[in-house]
This record gives sequence, C-alpha cells and structure tokens, in this order.
Amino acid sequence: MSDSIDTTGFPAGFVWGVSTSAYQVEGAVTEDGRGASIWDTRCKTKGGIGDGSNADVACDHYHRWPEDIALMRDIGVDAYRFSLAWPRLLPRGKGAVNEKGLAFYDRLIDSLLERGIEPWACLYHWDLPQTLHDLGGWTSRDCAGWFADYAALCAKRYGDRVKRWITFNEFSVFTLFGYAIPWAAPGITDRAAHLKAIHHVNLAHGAGVDVLRSLVPGASIGAIHNRQKIIPEHGREENVEPAALLDEHWNKAFPDPQLLGHYPPRLAEAIEPYVQPGDMARICRSIDWFGLNHYGPIFARAEPNSTWGYWWGDAPPNSPDYGVGWAIFPDAFREELLDIQRTYRLPIVVTENGCGGSDVVDAEGRVNDPHRIAYFTIYQEAMRAAMREGADVRGYFVWSLLDNFEWGTGYGSRFGIVHVDFQTLKRTPKASARWYADLIKAARAAGSQS
Ligand code: FCB
Repeated sequence: MSDSIDTTGFPAGFVWGVSTSAYQVEGAVTEDGRGASIWDTRCKTKGGIGDGSNADVACDHYHRWPEDIALMRDIGVDAYRFSLAWPRLLPRGKGAVNEKGLAFYDRLIDSLLERGIEPWACLYHWDLPQTLHDLGGWTSRDCAGWFADYAALCAKRYGDRVKRWITFNEFSVFTLFGYAIPWAAPGITDRAAHLKAIHHVNLAHGAGVDVLRSLVPGASIGAIHNRQKIIPEHGREENVEPAALLDEHWNKAFPDPQLLGHYPPRLAEAIEPYVQPGDMARICRSIDWFGLNHYGPIFARAEPNSTWGYWWGDAPPNSPDYGVGWAIFPDAFREELLDIQRTYRLPIVVTENGCGGSDVVDAEGRVNDPHRIAYFTIYQEAMRAAMREGADVRGYFVWSLLDNFEWGTGYGSRFGIVHVDFQTLKRTPKASARWYADLIKAARAAGSQS
C-alpha cells in the first residue's frame, strides 16, 4: 500500500510516531496512590459516558506497557507521544507528591530510551485532578500556578531524559466541550466559565513553557492544537456568523494569543473582563514547534438554544467517506498545514491523525481495517502535497497505537492500529499497523538514498 505514496523527500530526522493519552490507556485509576480526575467523576455520572463504560481498566497500559513498547518496536516508530497523569503524580493536584506515580513514568521512559524510541511527554491531556476542579479548576486564575508547579515537578524529574515536551493537548476541545458544550468533563455549560477557562489555560501554557525552558536543558517545546476548517452548513447565510464564532473558539482562541500575542476579534471583546495587564506577554512565549491534531473539517450551523449559538452540522450529502463512516476531506488537511505555516511560521508536527472503526478479530485471528489504510493513504498524500507546497512538517504521529477509551463515547469507536480485546486485554496488530510499519521503512530507505 505504501508503494502508492511518495516516500521520498522527507526531511532528515523526520519523526514517525504513535500517540496515546494517560486516561485513555492506563487504567489502574485507584492504584499506587493515584488521585481522582474530573474524568473519573464523569464516568461515575449517570449518562456521562455514552455506552455507560469507564476507564478503570482501559487498556491496562499501567501494567502492560512493556508489551506495548514491544509493539512499537515491531512497528518501527521513532517516537511515542504519551501524557503524564497529573493526578497520578500529585493526587490532590498540588502539595504531596506520589513517588509511586513518578516511578511509573521513570520505568516507561527508561524502557523507551533503551529501545531507541524517543519519549514525547504531554503534560495535560484533559485529566484535571478532581480536587483542583473543586477549588474552581480552570475557571480559577490560580490554576495556571498549580499547573506551573506540576510542570516543574515533571521537568525536574524527567528532564534529564525527556527533551520533547508538550504543554497541552487540544486546548479548544477540552475548554469548549468541558465548559460550554456538555460533551466532556467537567460538563459545565456557561459562557463566563468557558471564557475564564480559555484565558487561564492560556496563562498556564505560558507559565508551563517558562518552567520547561528554565529547567530542561535542550528542551524542544510544543503545544498541540486541533485545527479544522469550519464550514457553514449547506453554505447558508444564517450559518455564516455561527461558523465564524466557532472558528475563533476552535481554531484561534489558543494559537493566536500564544503565538501572535492577541485574541481573535469576537473573543477579544468577550474575554476582556478576565484579562489583566501583562497577561499577553505571559501567554505569548517562544516555543519550538506547532503540534497539529487533525481529523476532518467541521460543518457548523446556527443553534440559538446552544451556549454560543452554534452547533455541529452535517457534511454535504454524498461527500466521500472511503468506508470510514464520516466525510473525508484530505484537501482540508493540506490547506490547514499551509495555513498554519503561513500564519504561525513554526515547524509543524502532526501529533494526531487517524480514524475510528468497529474493527473485529476474524476467525484466523487477524484484524482487517482497509478503511483505516485508505484514510491514512489519502491523508499522507495530502501531507506530502502540503510539504511540496512549503509546509515545514517535521513529524507525523498516528492516533492511536491502541484501541482505547474514547472519552464520552466509551469503547465503541476503535482508533488503534493495534486491536485491544477489552475483555482479555489481548493486543492484535491490525493490517494498518503492518501498513504503517511498511510506510516508515520505505520512507527511511528513500531518505538514506537521497
Ligand atoms: C482527539 C483527542 C484524542 C482522541 C482523538 C480521537 O480529539 O486528542 O484523545 O480522543 O481525538
């Protein structure tokens, strides 16, 4: 399959990786002193998770990480992007440190390095300690300081071995869905809470960058943004302004202040009451690369009864889906990469790309996922096209290594290139894992010839 992709011309040092996040794979939520996160609470809330499941066990990565690292070795990745669980390291979010939690990531990091896989550590992939939420969480300005202290703990402990650091994963998803649209923890729907969360998370990012820069010699620091073109549903006039507002909240609320030093216009006006003198300088800190998570464009429509007047709409009828189950627009990915390059002028790392499915193990014990291979092929081609047109893409990470706990939907949608049987926890690499291994090999071989 990789034969059909142009594997030449990747820059030297291009990083091929896989991504996961702590809450989605680790399980062991009450083990070795871990504290509760807002997602544990969400799982216990009636109706919080679509299929009524929880992440108490998830993929049991907390115990099975050696097997998972062996799978990464087999696929041949250069890097593993994972997240550190704040409530595992600081069970109450601040104050007393949990040595057993710290030791878990020591083992993981050391083992990755021994096997030639570079650890890329993300400080925050949505699992805020519950005790901090009880003190106001992201709606409290203090949360930026709590985050900076947590970042310092991680930098001091792992900074001798981990050089690739990410402050946050998908700022706009967890702030919008957590504080304005009730699709994620903590499930608040309030304009002021959403605005405060945006600003305080931006402050936390800036403080985190400063901490990492001062404590980790040679750190390469990025932040991960989900950027997806927002298209007014059916091109209708009444959807244009809602789409423009969603575009600010989804695509610009974080990279614009962090990298350009200002909020986009509609948001700037609304957020002003929460901004103090000097804040923009605190937020706009120099980082080394732009992390992009991209799945597909968003169609937006007016919904006067929602918190902000917009809602998710439908793709045009008969849009191509390549068997994936949602409309696929690779050109939106190419355009996004070029737009990021033009607007923010940083090297780009694609930190998540992939698609879900309901993959099953067949009678021969194999998992065939041709739709995922089709999706990856098309998206690789779009990325290559963007690179030829000037996008400075330095790495690509598949979401995800493993089927895992897919937040509010539970276990229904499988995003892994490795199948996980959630009864037995058995791992079975899918056809797409082999496809990815072949792609990496071909790209390396092409690189060594050039
Ligand atoms: C992204 C999240 C990741 C996973 C994928 C499918 O928005 O960062 O944790 O849920 O979507």
